[in-house]
Amino acid sequence: MGNIILGTGASLPSRVITNKDLEKKIDTTDEWIKTRTGIKKRHISEAGEYTYVLASEAAKKALAMAEVSAEEVDLIIVATISSHMLMPSTACFVQQQLGASKAFAYDVNAACSGFVYALDLADMYLRGGREKKILVIGAETLSSRVNWQDRNTCILFGDGAGAVVVGYDENDERGIIGANLFSDGNLWKLLHMHTAESCNEDITVEDWSGAHIVMEGREVFKHAVKAMEDAVRGLLQQTGNELDAVKLVIPHQANVRILNRLVERLELPADRVFINAPQYGNTSAASIPIALDEANRDGRITENDLILFCSFGGGFTWGASLIKW
Ligand code: ACO
Repeated sequence: MGNIILGTGASLPSRVITNKDLEKKIDTTDEWIKTRTGIKKRHISEAGEYTYVLASEAAKKALAMAEVSAEEVDLIIVATISSHMLMPSTACFVQQQLGASKAFAYDVNAACSGFVYALDLADMYLRGGREKKILVIGAETLSSRVNWQDRNTCILFGDGAGAVVVGYDENDERGIIGANLFSDGNLWKLLHMHTAESCNEDITVEDWSGAHIVMEGREVFKHAVKAMEDAVRGLLQQTGNELDAVKLVIPHQANVRILNRLVERLELPADRVFINAPQYGNTSAASIPIALDEANRDGRITENDLILFCSFGGGFTWGASLIKW
């Protein structure tokens, strides 16, 4: 161990869209959205609030809490599926915004599981010993990647970013304990998003329907609950920990119904699960670091607490990770 989270930060666009606001745009109701998803509102980017802008703001707050300067950062990993450009990566824009001149930077695409995957990467780099300070960021503007006429999907998502600074301290017994990660590309169709149309007509994508999220909600729901439960149980078994010893579970905030089902299956008391999906909707790779920052700043986490993350997303990708705070 010894790979410790030194600081957390989050950034959300100031514009808030409530369910009532959505009633004016599409055939839906506040009641339907609340009953089926628990979501009440979401933050949605305005002009210029690109993914890298939110990511940079979150990173600055995490660096300030960690008392680490941008120049000390060795590596920036951004988990995202909603970069405003495909190249350069969002991480390179963040590096430029922060003036993190020494850092190399790249993005990770693992959909809603992106932060858990990226944190595992940071853990591996730090174990390797070459990098000492790493920024791990989950950032999304999925408002740019949903079809606002599709009531099955557009009500679910929100924009935002969360960041952590991870550093190594050989004298510390705390830190990242381990991760249990999975993917299954066979099920890609149930939750996917095309890129822009191909410029090469020989390699166009069949059934291309636009660069936005397409989802079979019921199927995703079933897979998500079972996969997260299995990942959590597997990780606890592998690392020799009991769920009873975990102070706080911070799951990917897909929606409240999914999380309630997961909590039921894990037989967790409600006060040991962090849920903020009602305020932010599903912010994909950003949801865990946003929730972590909120829990951290609210004093829900104290030194030596066991904190468990779990996630599920397009790919399918899923997994869990465990930290001694
Ligand atoms: N407002 C009103 N009615 C709606 C809306 C809406 N926004 N969306 C769908 N409906 C209608 C449907 O058309 C359908 O009508 P019909 O019976 O006349 O055909 C009816 O509501 C029921 O639709 P279902 O899709 O069966 O509703 P369900 O109870 O499954 O809830 C939901 C839908 C919330 C999407 C659910 O399936 C779910 O939570 N799935 C998980 C999806 C998810 O969270 N994905 C996020 C990405 S992956 C991740 O982060 C884990």
